Amino acid sequence: MSAQTLIPEPQHDERALQDFVRDFRRYLKQDVMPGIRQVYETRVAPSHERETGKPFDSYHDVRRAMVANDYYQFWSAMQRRSQEMMWESVVAPTERQLDELIRRYESIAARSPAGGTLELDDSLPIPRYHTAHDIHLQPGGYHTERGEHDVAAGAIYEAGLPIYIDGELGPDNDRIGMALLEHYKENFADRAPQRILDMGCTVGNSTLPWAVAFPEAEVHAIDVAAPCLRYAHAKAELAGVRVHYSQRNAECTGYDAGSFDLVVSHIMIHETSKSALGNIVAECFRLLKPGGVMLHLDVPRGKDPFGRFMSQWEVYNNNEVFASYLTDVDLAALAHKNGFAKEQAWMDGVPPYTGINHAYNTHGFKWPTLVGVR
Ligand SMILES: C[S@@+](CC[C@H](N)C(=O)[O-])C[C@H]1O[C@@H](n2cnc3c(N)ncnc32)[C@H](O)[C@@H]1O
Repeated sequence: MSAQTLIPEPQHDERALQDFVRDFRRYLKQDVMPGIRQVYETRVAPSHERETGKPFDSYHDVRRAMVANDYYQFWSAMQRRSQEMMWESVVAPTERQLDELIRRYESIAARSPAGGTLELDDSLPIPRYHTAHDIHLQPGGYHTERGEHDVAAGAIYEAGLPIYIDGELGPDNDRIGMALLEHYKENFADRAPQRILDMGCTVGNSTLPWAVAFPEAEVHAIDVAAPCLRYAHAKAELAGVRVHYSQRNAECTGYDAGSFDLVVSHIMIHETSKSALGNIVAECFRLLKPGGVMLHLDVPRGKDPFGRFMSQWEVYNNNEVFASYLTDVDLAALAHKNGFAKEQAWMDGVPPYTGINHAYNTHGFKWPTLVGVR
């Protein structure tokens, strides 16, 4: 493993498997997946119209028809298997090097050369939307701890990510944070935040761009998952970036009311539940100073019944079970309900930082983002 990272180094055969899985997923996405829409448009939708006299108007009906289609079944089975293989390909090298990874974390954390901090709370209950299923099939999820000072979940997530999304988040896995940062700079140019909170930071990939862009700010980042936070702390310290990480639930953080200028999250909300999301938005409202900004960026849920059906694949096959409600929820209305004035909360589309090629929408891709101003 490189001295500058905590990413587990694969041996020859492990690397070959990782390369295979990445190519396999790229093949499924570029060569097999486009055929699903073709099958839908040329066979499944016309047959539905013939039988019912009207086009599909519900993604639930699209799903009922598509799951019986053998082309879709083939893609779905292969996609699911590629996801399992992806984790297998990074779990093995992580387990083999875990003692060394923990030693490196301990040595970095003992020095904390960048001046960041890590606060863990082993009494914090892990929400049921994390313990009920291993989200996106990562064995043990984000939070499971296998021993003292465990960093495995963070290392597995970090090593799996470039395979998961084919390197589209760039060499530092930070392009989601960069995209949201660009959006903030364009829309709130007059505000240099002094205190920033990143919710659901995992290993801090999207936290670091904020801390680098606003070096004078005090940057806090929270997650419920201790092994990811340890990894995040070591990663930030190795990068020379000061961040204060702590193990807290975004629904009820324990920070003082009115203590942040900016609260952000990146692809977190689809991994919470409907009631949790209401709590999180209400908590953001409580945490913000007057004039402070809330930004929750998440994954698209599809623009038409077919697109919405495809986005639901994650719900049924990739253990993103609690994300289902997001397809129908009106996030701006949810923000109004939880404190934000009507004209002070809205949805924006955030363009990718560079060349992100989203699986379900390769043209005009935008990250749907809930914006709220206190
Ligand atoms: C997909 S990951 C986010 C990735 C990360 N923000 C990034 O951009 O690299 C979702 C994270 O949200 C965390 N999370 C989910 N619900 C949470 C909650 N209620 N409080 C704090 N963290 C939460 C999970 O533990 C997980 O690490």
